[in-house]
Amino acid sequence: MPSYTLKVRRYQPEADLNESEGARGAYWETFDVELDSTLSVLDGLLQTRDRHDGTLAVRCSCRAAICGSCGVKVNGQSTLACKTKIGEAAAEASRISRADNSGAIGRLGTAAAEATGDVASGENGGAADGVIVIEPMGNMPVIKDLVVDMESTHWEKYRRVTPWLLPEGPPPEREYIVSAEAMVDVTQAVACIQCGACVSACLSMEADPEFIGPAALSKAYRFVGDPRDGQTTERLYDLANDPHGIYDCTHCFACIEACPKGVAPMNQIMRLRRLAGHEHDVDDVNNGRRHELAFTKIIERKGTLDESLLLQESFAPGVIGKLKPSIASIQALLQSIPTAIRGIRTGKMRSIPKLIPGVHHKLPGDSQDHVKRIYERAEESRIELNLYVIGEGGEEEHLPGQEGPATDIVSAAQAEEVVAEPDVDWRT
Ligand code: SF4
Ligand code: SF4
Ligand code: FES
Repeated sequence: MPSYTLKVRRYQPEADLNESEGARGAYWETFDVELDSTLSVLDGLLQTRDRHDGTLAVRCSCRAAICGSCGVKVNGQSTLACKTKIGEAAAEASRISRADNSGAIGRLGTAAAEATGDVASGENGGAADGVIVIEPMGNMPVIKDLVVDMESTHWEKYRRVTPWLLPEGPPPEREYIVSAEAMVDVTQAVACIQCGACVSACLSMEADPEFIGPAALSKAYRFVGDPRDGQTTERLYDLANDPHGIYDCTHCFACIEACPKGVAPMNQIMRLRRLAGHEHDVDDVNNGRRHELAFTKIIERKGTLDESLLLQESFAPGVIGKLKPSIASIQALLQSIPTAIRGIRTGKMRSIPKLIPGVHHKLPGDSQDHVKRIYERAEESRIELNLYVIGEGGEEEHLPGQEGPATDIVSAAQAEEVVAEPDVDWRT
């Protein structure tokens, strides 16, 4: 039987309450387990609890990637412990240690230290070859060992988006009837099991803990996209105007990488933005929509992002905006000065050309023309972000087992994933 070493971030809350009893606060502990390589990291943790230390706290229930209870970080990546094969986790740990990638290794072990305030041990969680590093999820306070408080950072925000239908008009005599075709649009969001892995991975949440976050915003799209809901514009208006709402996402893809169910939360957020800005004309007070328009306009024209133009174009767009800026745009520009100063201080806007609007250094060769052509192609094909609805190639495909053409286009790969996931509740 293969053996594996687990390096687990421990935290005993009793330490904060009563130091005299010898409780240690946050620390690392290693355990050896013997398991078949196809079993999961969760199996390794449960064996550890059974054979080595019955006090190890880990949350789990279904052991089949259905209940969403066992979210942790494995080798720095937020995921489900029960869905991560222990053999693959060990191979990944070896790859990381061999890669001599100090950035990647340096990320390991930071979450628990920050969450518990314990950075005194001097350990960074970096592991020797093949040692699997397991930590509690990030962006959430640690309760004990690998168990985090999901109420304050996940469930509270989930309730914030009114996660239930708000239909208009008198209720029908029986249930609300909706065609299966009309629900295809929200199936990706429906697949969410509320595990919190995306919340743990979200970079915007690290900077702004009040950001509504990927899981709750995906759930918001589930109801915005539901044809039975009667409050679509109100929901979009609310989420666009919240300073911690849809425009707080920085489009970093971390939640897509972390999600064990293929929900692609960032894509749901982009769909909310598109609906709010383009179809419901929500001109938000955060200037998010105008910022987005300015961003795409600059890249379309120049084939690169001239950041010195971005502020000006976001707040005072076009020639009229520049010649006759409104008082609100002047105020907004002034309020952005601290951000610009931070950009200069941190080196993001270091070179002189980057500070002068319109004077941006040229990219090598014809790179800018290439970018412009990519932009044109994207505009022409208008690929929908939800791959459950539109295939990557854009060609029409069928759902497995479905006769005749799919009402909407579904990528075969994604459709197979939906069928393979036993926990997708199509009735939700
Ligand atoms: S894409 Fe947006 S929501 Fe997803 S992790 Fe990044 S900042 Fe967070
Ligand atoms: S979107 Fe994915 S990662 Fe986020 S809570 Fe839902 S299932 Fe988990
Ligand atoms: S134990 Fe249920 S998702 Fe892992």
